[in-house]
This record gives sequence, C-alpha cells and structure tokens, in this order.
Amino acid sequence: MYDYFLGGKNHFAADRETAKKMLAAAPHARTGARENRAFLGRVVRYLAAEAGIRQFLDIGTGLPTTNNVHEVAQAVTPSARVVYVDNDPLVLAHARALLTSSFEGRTAYIQGDLRDPAAILSSPVVREVLDFTRPVALILVAVLHFMPDEFKPAATMATLLDGLPAGSYLAASHATLETLPGAAAATRAYRSAGVPMQLRGADDFAELAFTGLELIPPGVVVVSEWRPTDPAPRPAPAEVNVYGGVARKP
Ligand SMILES: C[S@@+](CC[C@H](N)C(=O)[O-])C[C@H]1O[C@@H](n2cnc3c(N)ncnc32)[C@H](O)[C@@H]1O
Repeated sequence: MYDYFLGGKNHFAADRETAKKMLAAAPHARTGARENRAFLGRVVRYLAAEAGIRQFLDIGTGLPTTNNVHEVAQAVTPSARVVYVDNDPLVLAHARALLTSSFEGRTAYIQGDLRDPAAILSSPVVREVLDFTRPVALILVAVLHFMPDEFKPAATMATLLDGLPAGSYLAASHATLETLPGAAAATRAYRSAGVPMQLRGADDFAELAFTGLELIPPGVVVVSEWRPTDPAPRPAPAEVNVYGGVARKP
C-alpha cells in the first residue's frame, strides 16, 4: 500500500483496494507517504554526514524504491554498513535491489519481525555485518504504527535500545490522524485487511520511541518540518499526518 501511495509498481489488487479505502478516509495519505520517504532520506544523510554514523539497522524497510538507506548513507560514507529487516515476504522477494552495496560497505537483508526484537538482534547476519561495540543507527521509519499496544511495542523498544551501545541513534516516524476526523475509518480499513495498526498522537509516539534518549533538534515534529532542505513551500501539517524525530542514546 505504501508503494501504491508512493507511485511505485509493486502492488496487488488487494493492496490497491485497501489503499483506496484509506484515501477515502484520509485523502492526503499520498502526501504523508512522500514526505515520510523524504524525511528518511534527510535523516540518513544527517546521521552519516553530521552524526558520524557508519552502521544502520533498518527495521520495516519496505519495498525497495528510490533513496534506499544504503544508497543515501554510502553516498556520504562508502564504507557504511546496512542491515535491512522486514516481515513481508514480498520485500524479501525484491531484496536483491537492497543488496547493491558499494565495494567498501556492506548490505544485508533478513526476514524478521519487530514483535521478536531479540531474534533480530541475535541474528548471525546482523551480528556479522554490524559491530555492536560501535554506534548503530536504528531506523524505525513508518513502522511503529503497525505495532498496536497489544503487540507490546514498549517492550520491543526497550529490547532494541538496550542492545545498542551508547552514542547510537534512533530515527523513527509514526502516522497520526490527530488533526483529521478520518482516523477511525483509516485504522478500520487497515485492520479489516489483516494489517493491525494503531495511530498515535505526538506525545504517545514520543513516549514510546524516545523515552530515555536525547532528542536532536527540532525534536518530534511533523516529518516535513524535520530539518527541511528544499526551499519550496511545504504541505500543511494536516496533509502530512506523520510525526518523526531522531534521538541519541546517552
Ligand atoms: C510504510 S512501510 C515503511 C517503509 C520505509 N521504512 C519507509 O519509511 O520508507 C512499513 C513497512 O513495515 C513493515 N512491517 C510492518 N510490521 C512489521 C513488523 N512487525 N516487523 C517487521 N516489519 C514490519 C511492512 O511490511 C512495510 O514494509
């Protein structure tokens, strides 16, 4: 569905059907998807260029599209290493496009689930590609809203962050429909298609993702407002409906 919103070609009739229900409830969903993807690019560039991060663990990767994490990171630092993780078998089927590492760096893909973070952290592939004695950037962009409270997302966050050394970073974004009346209908559209989802407001998202971490300015904001680089006018926050932020583990 995200691929459909982004204008990609890797979607099925069932995806389009649910995506159209989502668009009926939240007509600006495409703007949110595009702004979220642009946020991911700016965040990875910031982490590689300004925070000096060389290793990335990207959970909820999505289908390969433009500006995949390793492409952005390795454009700054060719030796950057990236492990991609998703639980959707379709992403696995397309993973070859994520494995186009630079000669100096490394990329890898594992099928894994955010509901079992210990399995991700102990995966032999993850341990081989990433050095957990040095800072790692954990990327959870547009995936935490697929962790409703019944999946115990706070426990997932605690396990993941405990596994990272001091000086590591978390970049996260989260859909919200705080400002729109269509929130309940949008959530129902996903849930009835078998995709559990829970939209959260900025405070709940910040508490879930960034408790105990040092937020990097400007903090948790609508993703289009996170260190924008394009001087063009930006969409209204109510058309974006995705919050994001980056924080450092002290
Ligand atoms: C909206 S896409 C985000 C893609 C990319 N991170 C971005 O922001 O451009 C969400 C991705 O999260 C994945 N996902 C959802 N629940 C997951 C879970 N429990 N474990 C791992 N991946 C999950 C979906 O399969 C999908 O590929």
